[in-house]
Formats: sequence, C-alpha cells, structure tokens
Amino acid sequence: MAQTKSIYTCQNCGAQSPKWLGRCTSCGGWNTYVEEVVEKKKSTSKISVQLSGNQPLTLENIKAEKNQRFPAGINEFDRVLGGGIVPGSIVLLGGEPGIGKSTLVLQMALGLPNKKILYISGEESLQQIKLRATRLEMKQNNCLFLSETSLEHVIAQTEQTMPDLLVVDSIQTVSTEVIESSPGSVSQVRECTSAILKFAKKNDVAVILIGHINKEGSLAGPKVLEHMVDTVLQFEGDTNYMYRILRANKNRYGSTNELGIFEMRGNGLQEVLNPSEQLISKVSDDVSGTAIAATIEGIRPFLIEIQSLVSSAAYGTPQRSSTGFDLRRLNMLLAVLEKRAGFKLLAKDVFLNIAGGLKINDPATDLAVICSILSSNIDVAVDHKTCFTGEVGLTGEIRGVNRIEQRIAEAAKLGFNKIFIPAVNKGFDASAFNIQIEKVARVEEVFRIIFRK
Ligand code: TYD
Ligand code: MG
Repeated sequence: MAQTKSIYTCQNCGAQSPKWLGRCTSCGGWNTYVEEVVEKKKSTSKISVQLSGNQPLTLENIKAEKNQRFPAGINEFDRVLGGGIVPGSIVLLGGEPGIGKSTLVLQMALGLPNKKILYISGEESLQQIKLRATRLEMKQNNCLFLSETSLEHVIAQTEQTMPDLLVVDSIQTVSTEVIESSPGSVSQVRECTSAILKFAKKNDVAVILIGHINKEGSLAGPKVLEHMVDTVLQFEGDTNYMYRILRANKNRYGSTNELGIFEMRGNGLQEVLNPSEQLISKVSDDVSGTAIAATIEGIRPFLIEIQSLVSSAAYGTPQRSSTGFDLRRLNMLLAVLEKRAGFKLLAKDVFLNIAGGLKINDPATDLAVICSILSSNIDVAVDHKTCFTGEVGLTGEIRGVNRIEQRIAEAAKLGFNKIFIPAVNKGFDASAFNIQIEKVARVEEVFRIIFRK
C-alpha cells in the first residue's frame, strides 16, 4: 500500500527536513523551505538479498564504449564538450534567462543533418520555435519538435521515436505526476532528471537538458543536478553585449579548461574563431587610457583591451567603477599605484572597462590594468603595438604567470611588436617568437620604459 508523507525541501540547495525551518541549516537561505508530498512505497521490513542484478567485473571484462562521439556541428560547442556529443551522456546547459541557451541548442539541432533529434520544449510553443528557426535562416532537417511538460509523455514519446539526441528545454518546466509539488521545485527537477538519466543510459540516447539559473538562486537551480549529469556547461555573458562564453564546469568526457566564444547576431549565434582580433578595437591608435592584456581563460589565450578613465574627483569620496574586473582588486592596484607612481588616490575618480562586456578572472591582467590607469592619469598613450601580461603583487613586484609561451605566441600572431612579461618567468626559448620580449620585475620599471619621453 502506498503511504503519503510530507517533507520540507529547501528550494535553494535541496536539503530536506521533516519540519519547516525559517532558515536552511545547510545553505543559510531564509524562507526557502516548501512542503512537498512524497509517496512512499511500503517496504518490507528486511532488505531482501537478490543475486539477479548486475555482477561485478574486472576491467578487462568490461566492454569498451561501443558508440563513438558525434560532432555537434558547431566547432566552439564541440571544443567545450571535448570533441563532440557522447551517446548516452547527459549534458546540462545552464545560464541566465535570455542569454541564448535555446538559440544555441536549436541552432545545433537544425545543423545536424544525419541524426535523429527530438526537441522537447516546455517553454515555447511550436509556432514560437518555428519563428525562431526562420529567424536563424537555417535549412529544415528532420529534427522533430514537441511542446510538452509531462515527464511521462516525454519518456513515452522518446521511447517511440528513439532519437540519437534528446533536447529538453527546460528541465524546470517538466513535471511528473508521481510528485505533487509544483514544476521547477527541487524534488520535481531531481525526479525528472533521474528518470531521463535512467532512460538515456539504458537506451544510449544523448541528452541535452537546459536549466535556468536566476540571480537570487531562489528557484530550484541546476545546482542540485550537477552531480547527476555527466557534463555541466555554463553559458554566460552580459545580455547587453553581444559576446557569450560557453564553459564546462564539469565534464566526465573532456577537459573543463576549454572555452567557446560566440557572438549574438540578429540571425543567431556566430562562432568567434579569432577572439583577440575582435576584442581589440582598431581605432585606439594613440589615445591615452587603453592597454592590451595577454590573458588566458581556461587554456585559451586571447588579447583583450583594458580601458580606463581617470578624472578629478568632484566629490569628497572618489568614485571607483569597474566593468568586467573585480572592484576590490582594482582598489588594491590603485593603492599600489599610489605607493609606486605618486598617483593621488583621494583626488581621482577611476573608471575601468574590459572591452566586449567580458568578465576576466585571470590575475595576469593586472599589469595592463595598472598601465591603462596610469596612461589615462598622465594622458600619455601606451604604444598600441605593445601588450602586457603579469600579476602585480602588493609591494609592486610583478609575479609570474602560467602558460607564458601561449600568451607570447598569441601576441606575436596578432602582430604586436612588444610584450612585457614577468622577469621570473624563465625556462622558455625567447628567440622562438617574432616579438620583442621585455622582462620586468617591478611596476616602476614598466612605467619608466613605456612613459619615457
Ligand atoms: P534565448 O535563446 O531565448 O535565451 P534563453 O533560452 O537562454 O532564455 O535568447 C534570447 C535572446 O537572444 C533574445 O533577447 C533575443 C536574442 N536573439 C538574437 O539576438 N538573435 C537571434 O537570432 C535570436 C534567435 C535571439
Ligand atoms: Mg529559452
């Protein structure tokens, strides 16, 4: 006989409690517990011993993967996946609303000619999908579309169609009758994913699940799903800008260091194959306040333009504002500048901007940030054929960076004449690059070289 029981689940992290709690003891969120009814099958009191299940095997007896990956047709997407889609794998694609998840997946689905694809949308009607496809100017292929939110129907349709790839947009809209809580709640999302996962593994169907994240994380975020799925991809960027970055946060079938860069156009997402060329504005010939940083995101080197504007502070408290760069780090760098270059912190407003609306986490950007600020402050342009890489320490020393050869190679490839690198980075052949390499140990040295007149 089935027995019903209610439990309280935190909608933020998925923690459960038999009683309602005002504050989640696990994630600290307030007012996140929601009552959910679970149906429990009456179990027999003893665990019955069965030998009919799977047997343990030695490695040599385990059959190797019979199906090979198939390419998704979009190079940047394949690169992040680690070379293509693995049959039977589950990929979770997360991102803020409006970032372009549905567009990316639809574009991929329509671009795969020889695969059977079932695209389930719980968010958009079939007409809306058709409109989007028209906008993408893609040719029709035999991709099947279904607007559905019931998990039971989704599984039944998938079983009947047996596609190579199943797309579910989004997992938050799918719900099962077994659980009484509303679609999008943690238990619904977890239950639906686990049912889809079981089906996919059994039938070797690759699955792409789209998941929402909202800023407050109050909705059942895909966090709960992260350990269930094989690959977690994150699609990010600033919706006000056109660049989008696809990263892998977890990948059982490839590296998490890869990065895909896209540009949102009027007719869909376009791959950006040479990000450096696009991210450097060609006009900044001899204007002060810009400096080029040779950065690495994941394992991908690119050059990016840092822009600063320093002006006299109009009010008692100077303004500091930064887009795409950590504000606390900016304050730290300004303090270093005050100490080493006589930059009067209290008298200046500082605005910093990373071109293209990208967020940069690489500490090797520091040197370019510092140079661009100083350049704007003294109104002397940095030579536009010079770029920088190096982390700046509190005493003004320039610390070593990783993958220095890749950074130098990228700068040389793009036609830069000179690159400043940390003096501590040794152990590579400088003569192999067609670029002048300037090794510097302290920020004062850099200032002396670039602002010497
Ligand atoms: P969408 O894929 O619906 O986002 P998500 O599924 O992540 O919520 O993309 C929505 C945005 O993308 C929308 O603001 C319009 C824009 N867009 C373009 O700029 N060009 C296009 O070709 C398409 C289809 C969408
Ligand atoms: Mg969408």
